[in-house]
Amino acid sequence: MINLKEEIAKKISEIIEMNAKDLEEYIEIPKDSEMGDYAFPCFRLAKELKKAPPLIANEIKEKIQLDENIEKIETVGGYLNFYINPLVLIKNVLAEIDEKKQDYGKVDIGKGRNVIIDYSSPNIAKPFHIGHLRSTVIGGALYKIYNFLGYNSVGINFLGDWGIQFGKVMAGYSMWKDEYDFSESEINAILKIYVRYNKEEKENPELTDKARAYFKKLEDGDEEARKTWEWLRKISLENYEKTYKLLNSKFDSYNGEAYYNDKMESVVNELEEKGLLKISEGAKVVDLEAYDMPPCIIITSAGTTIYATRDLAALKDRIQTYDFAKALYVVGNEQQLHFKQVFKVLSLMGYEEYAKNCIHIPFGLVVDKNGERIGSRKGNSVLLEDILKESIQKVKTIIEDKNPNIEDKEEVARKVGVGAIIFNDLSNSRIKDEIFDWDMLLNFNGETGPYMQYIYVRTKSVLKKAGYVPEFKNLILEKLLDKPSINTIKLLYQFSNTVILAGEKNEPSILARYLIDLAQSYSNFYNECKIIIEDKELQDARLYLTYAVGNVLKTGAELLGMEMPNEM
Ligand code: ARG
Repeated sequence: MINLKEEIAKKISEIIEMNAKDLEEYIEIPKDSEMGDYAFPCFRLAKELKKAPPLIANEIKEKIQLDENIEKIETVGGYLNFYINPLVLIKNVLAEIDEKKQDYGKVDIGKGRNVIIDYSSPNIAKPFHIGHLRSTVIGGALYKIYNFLGYNSVGINFLGDWGIQFGKVMAGYSMWKDEYDFSESEINAILKIYVRYNKEEKENPELTDKARAYFKKLEDGDEEARKTWEWLRKISLENYEKTYKLLNSKFDSYNGEAYYNDKMESVVNELEEKGLLKISEGAKVVDLEAYDMPPCIIITSAGTTIYATRDLAALKDRIQTYDFAKALYVVGNEQQLHFKQVFKVLSLMGYEEYAKNCIHIPFGLVVDKNGERIGSRKGNSVLLEDILKESIQKVKTIIEDKNPNIEDKEEVARKVGVGAIIFNDLSNSRIKDEIFDWDMLLNFNGETGPYMQYIYVRTKSVLKKAGYVPEFKNLILEKLLDKPSINTIKLLYQFSNTVILAGEKNEPSILARYLIDLAQSYSNFYNECKIIIEDKELQDARLYLTYAVGNVLKTGAELLGMEMPNEM
């Protein structure tokens, strides 16, 4: 497909003798389409060319050769505004969709290189915190986006499957197991024990020692303890699997913290050999004062390894196994410092090339509409699976009311209920707190997942009503020159760039916002332009556009981890 940005940059570069690739980066898409389809700001050239921006703009305008792609150029202040020939755009976009179908927009920027996405990573035997929902959803979207961009995504669930929480659960289990009902849900009973242990521990410090003793048994390889650990890991994973299945999460590895137990020694030795370890208050640390950070503790004063030690061991393993182009860590904002320290230590160890491609992808909290944090109150742990089930149930009630004749209600409710949760998580920039409010996220008329799915379903029902999808090669493209159609086609043209940008910034919300824009644009087209009409040529053109929009909405939504219903 023609790359108009590139074309424009080429033209400008011929005039001012600068690298076209660099110039391409300056080109913007004006918010208001009255200002053209592309704008080139001349401000950054002013210094180099020693001229005022409006002057540069005028000079370029005088010299530039118009061709069939560009209809006209105008200058506004220091800006050059380019107006694309709409027919060229229509033809390019629709031909490409005709050729590529579901793969429209796919690119090969990644060239098969590995991108590691460390996401979800819950702490076993502890409640699945709602914050892990965010990691699971954001990481899952990035996984699919990177694959679409030609990378090979490697999803790693770095399970928190080691630590004192096992001591607590084991000690609690030994004392109270008869008080709980394990027949219904083992994991729920375990969580209750864990929560109770934390509560009682505050009044009874002996419990802390008891938990330590149990964990020590585990660490020392006691067979009984090991068995219990395996059982806890198993029932936790089984529980997560249900959630992962609903969310379409994919993991290529479940190597968690425990997996690195016997792989830390070599990292500690390496740090030692490279002269990076220092004794500080009885602990072994890497001094990071020169980088304005507190020291990174590798061995605590009690002689044990710690979270950072495990992350370093995991990183070394990931370098060896995957030789990654990027390693993304989709983890809440509160672990900012931890990752800064770990990446710095990796770099000091001599792996700068890898360290520079390690990226922490932080995100905000989940709050209710009053800004109150959700899921943080002790004893009030929310299982993710329950949230998803509740959403599905709510959607079922809505559709039974709106459209009782739907064939496969269960299936539709699942896709819409889960989609609503996913979309709500991804629709704002991830660093912002996510507002979790049922009325808002299930609003079929808001900027929500259900709205986007609803518009998709509309494209389906229009095509169904017509009874056919016209062939691209028979279309009279001039029939699509009206404003609502052109605006929609311009958005379709932006699809690939949008996914690329979402990948570059590791920000699925860029794609989510785009899909809302596209849905709204189609909705406007649908209201303004009658589709099933006398004029067969016009009908075909509009039907094809309808098909194209449905196609892109589906591809885009699936990149976010959503599934599209065929009716709702
Ligand atoms: N289990 C950790 C937590 O729940 C998150 C792990 C993130 N990944 C990592 N490689 N540190 O806080």
